[in-house]
Amino acid sequence: MEKALEEARNAGTLQDLERVRAAYLGRSGLISEIMKSLGRLAREERAEAGRAANAFKDSLGKLIEERRAALQAGMPAGSGFFDYTLPGRWRGLGSKHPVSAVIEEAARIFGKLGFTVAEGPDVETAYHNFEALNTPSHHPSLSPSDTFWLDTGELLRTQTSPVQIRVMESRKPPVRVITPGRCYRRDTTDATHSANFHQIEGLYVDQKVSLADLKGVMAYFAREMMGPKVAVRFRPHFFPFTEPSVECDFSCHICGGSGCRVCKNSGWIEIAGAGMVDPRVLRTVGYDPEIWSGYAFGMGIERIAMIRFGIKDIRMFYENDIRFLESLA
Ligand code: DAH
Repeated sequence: MEKALEEARNAGTLQDLERVRAAYLGRSGLISEIMKSLGRLAREERAEAGRAANAFKDSLGKLIEERRAALQAGMPAGSGFFDYTLPGRWRGLGSKHPVSAVIEEAARIFGKLGFTVAEGPDVETAYHNFEALNTPSHHPSLSPSDTFWLDTGELLRTQTSPVQIRVMESRKPPVRVITPGRCYRRDTTDATHSANFHQIEGLYVDQKVSLADLKGVMAYFAREMMGPKVAVRFRPHFFPFTEPSVECDFSCHICGGSGCRVCKNSGWIEIAGAGMVDPRVLRTVGYDPEIWSGYAFGMGIERIAMIRFGIKDIRMFYENDIRFLESLA
């Protein structure tokens, strides 16, 4: 058996390879002789020997196909040698997925401000995803129509905010991290919604951190990500884990703010939720809110990628149509 594999491996031409195939796998080749002779064996032995012969047939067959492909790829037709002077075949370079491109760019931008990247699990506990984030158990986002609950009582995280909790539980302040990752919600898919999307969470906790710091950082990020013309606005909002809370919009990159389908004619696109970390959240992770304060934000990566690359339908990100991905490279 080793001999047959060896011969297939060493076949220098397609003709040699065919000879090896015929000798072992052909109609009057070794394997079919063995198969024919199985009848003479006792029943228990027959099954065992049959299995061994079939396994051998499969691995030799596979090796021969691989060798054939290699010979066909590497050899000028009709010649019996590998021509090392032939130019290589250009298979084309892959391109980066726009979601990865935005994550890397965000890591670079926030990296300049001293943020490092942290990650957390996709399967989360209700404690990290809701309770520690000051979200009461009667909050509508816990309902099975909004959240994918698992049989274990855990869930697919609905936001990257639970990574804030994990980071603070495991580190002493000050902390300054961004945490990119996948999120899951029972949303009906349409041009701007997907049940599976990505966020980048940011968290900065130190002494005397203020809302003005948050505004400055978001404005800096927007300009670095979108170019100097982008405008940023903050609207008051509510999140259970921040007080005060804001939503942060970027001016629409596609129409320049004059109004289009993507920004629903408002000229603005909602990019992030943010705010000052609620003192209850700090207390929960063992940080003293009398000493430490911080801001946090969570932004939608697809939203950023849509305006940065001019993509009008969020579903394009998940279809992995190679023409779409290449067009962004
Ligand atoms: N987790 C929120 C969401 O998915 C976004 C968010 C809001 C994140 C405020 C934050 C924050 O860190 O401070 O809608």
